[in-house]
Amino acid sequence: MSDPPLQGSPAIGAAGLVPAAPGAGGTEGSGAAGGSARIAVKKAQLRSSPRPKKLEKLGVYSSCKAEGACKCNGWKSQNPPPTPPQTDQQSNAVNLQEPCRSCSHTLGDHVTHLENVSEEEMNRLLGIVLDVEYLYTCVHKEEDADTKQVYFSLFKLLRKSILQMGKPMLEAQESPPFEKPSIEQGVNNFVQYKFSHLPSKERQTIMELAKMFLNQINYWQLETPSQRRQRVPNDDAAGYKANYTRWLCYCNVPQFCDSLPRYETTQIFGRTLLRSVFTVMRKQLLEQARQEKDKLPPEKRTLILTHFPKFLSMLEEEVYSHSSPIWSQDFLAGYLPLYPYVLLVGEKRKPTEPLHHEENKRPRVVGDIPMDLINEVMATITDPAAIPETSLLSAHSARDEAARLEERRGVIEFHVIGNSLNQKPNKRILMWLVGLQNVFSHQLPRMPKEYITRLVFDPKHKTLSLIKDGRVIGGICFRMFPSQGFTEIVFCAVTSNEQVKGYGTHLMNHLKEYHIKHEILNFLTYADEYAIGYFKKQGFSKDIKVPKAKYVGYIKDYEGATLMGCELNPSIPYTEFSVIIKKQKEIIKKLIERKQAQIRKVYPGLSCFKDGVRQIPIESIPGIRETGWKPVGKGKELKDPDQLYSTLKTILQHVKSHQNAWPFMEPVKKTEAPGYYQVIRFPMDLKTMSERLKSRYYTTRKLFMADMQRIFTNCREYNPPESEYYKCANLLEKFFYTKIKEAGLIEK
Ligand code: ACO
Repeated sequence: MSDPPLQGSPAIGAAGLVPAAPGAGGTEGSGAAGGSARIAVKKAQLRSSPRPKKLEKLGVYSSCKAEGACKCNGWKSQNPPPTPPQTDQQSNAVNLQEPCRSCSHTLGDHVTHLENVSEEEMNRLLGIVLDVEYLYTCVHKEEDADTKQVYFSLFKLLRKSILQMGKPMLEAQESPPFEKPSIEQGVNNFVQYKFSHLPSKERQTIMELAKMFLNQINYWQLETPSQRRQRVPNDDAAGYKANYTRWLCYCNVPQFCDSLPRYETTQIFGRTLLRSVFTVMRKQLLEQARQEKDKLPPEKRTLILTHFPKFLSMLEEEVYSHSSPIWSQDFLAGYLPLYPYVLLVGEKRKPTEPLHHEENKRPRVVGDIPMDLINEVMATITDPAAIPETSLLSAHSARDEAARLEERRGVIEFHVIGNSLNQKPNKRILMWLVGLQNVFSHQLPRMPKEYITRLVFDPKHKTLSLIKDGRVIGGICFRMFPSQGFTEIVFCAVTSNEQVKGYGTHLMNHLKEYHIKHEILNFLTYADEYAIGYFKKQGFSKDIKVPKAKYVGYIKDYEGATLMGCELNPSIPYTEFSVIIKKQKEIIKKLIERKQAQIRKVYPGLSCFKDGVRQIPIESIPGIRETGWKPVGKGKELKDPDQLYSTLKTILQHVKSHQNAWPFMEPVKKTEAPGYYQVIRFPMDLKTMSERLKSRYYTTRKLFMADMQRIFTNCREYNPPESEYYKCANLLEKFFYTKIKEAGLIEK
């Protein structure tokens, strides 16, 4: 008999981090993978056995049909099987005449409903039978009360579906996914958010790590609610139990009982579940990596021993942060401006080469340019990371481009430093603090030197320092007020001979990223008259977003200076932002050039009208689409027939109730309109449309719209423009298009 699914932990396999079989019944090695494989073998055996054997098996789970009044819920053999049932025990095939130990009716009486059932359906039911027996054993063996209860519910559910010959459907208040964005989406967002600036090869490595991590979660065994209560007593116990139950029902048990629909943990759960497992999981994974380091293949060693721990630490910050953008539902929307760049720094791919899986999954702007075209355009644009060191920056380079390149090459460094009363700062930091005090004193001559010294060395203040050749050449001194939700920028300066080289901008961008990391999203500063221009260029404004009550009494007030504020957007990687914008501009420029080249094309004139054609569809005019024209009918096609029906019904009702609908309510009478049916070959009216709607003729919105349009076109064709009918057609047509736009059937 199979072992029940148990709590275990994935191991690090010889080929790197791979999901391992969770332990089963506490016996390592005889785990879930083995368990599910054994069930699969048994299912195969049973499915190839003779029909009487199958009937016997199903009869045990089928109610007695004899005389219509028998209450027996399953045929029982005269030679009872052991409890719990031993599925692998060979028993002699019974015949259909054998009486039931419980109700005395024959086995045949229990399986009459299966007489005409296909072999395929029989096999499906037998699959559920083996899952039922497996769960039965699980219920018996399981010691944890919560888990036992879930196994039992699933056992009952599967039994019921055999009795009713239905599909096992979990009856839950909520159906998956249980949280959005999913863990998978969050981790993918994390990769985009933190690593999109990396060169292609390194980004590939990060993606590999992300995939490995997601794989681990999908095979991770959650601790039981009681184990968790012991470990984290103050946690949201009810919330965890709900997730644990869902996980058992939708992810864990279906790994063994394949008659239940199976979902991946990373796709149906979100940050809440990840938060409850991350710390333990990270610890265990790293511990295992250390223990198995000698078994790792050399090519995986750096990845697992060096990159993976770093990856996990960075991810941990985002998992537990309150303001990380990766968990925002509209992260993609916020991140979309960066999207072309993300692709841009990706692998240089020939336009014909297929996309990588990850790239396929990347967000698309609704109605945006085809992927192939973007790839083609991007192949013509240089990767910023590939700019040779010696290359001269163009006149249109972003202000901070030179500084960013210098940082990449290690010419300059940025460090947040400060004095401390608890721990004496090392000599190097003290030297830098003195250097900062010097730069500020020289660049801010109106500030008393002692005052600068006091603040730079005050432990409550920190300074983001810019170091070149081991020397301080600039910095921003600031004080964080986390409880007030802002940071005060106290001094900001770059030494004179290094000014206007972009260092000031790059400094500020680093400061912004540092604050996003520390979840403070507002800067306030009293800017010198001469520095207002600089602060404006860094996104500061005199329009302060922080409520006055939050900063009065906290921030230092400077006479003659202007209070300015800057609100940070946590989705923006500020130090990369100008590259992103620049690349986007290049992409858009190229796309416009292409479009223009197409538009300039001269098409031959249409000759069809000479041949007597009176009307052609607009979209058939050569080149019309290239100008950006879209058919009016372009809009949402409702896939669900019931939804389409009810939408069209509402629209038709509105049209019929309109004050100008009266001429179109019924088919035109021959007596009232002489020669009408000679002129109008395809008549249409609202009554006919109502009948067509009722008979479900309108399977697409286009059919419906075509009929309605015909009413108006016919009317205008038969009647003169100054007629009442003609005017009614125009007004009703306008009303009709408003309604279908409102319903989203065509674009607004
Ligand atoms: N007025 C207007 N614009 C300025 C000023 C200024 N005083 N200083 C720089 N800019 C502009 C630059 O021209 C550049 O614009 P661009 O991108 O359109 O070409 C942009 O601001 C940023 O230039 P960077 O090269 O990135 O900045 P820089 O390295 O020169 O540093 C800083 C700017 C810190 C203001 C530097 O000029 C400096 O130290 N000035 C003297 C000290 C000072 O005034 N500090 C601010 C006092 S207020 C306070 O500390 C709260």
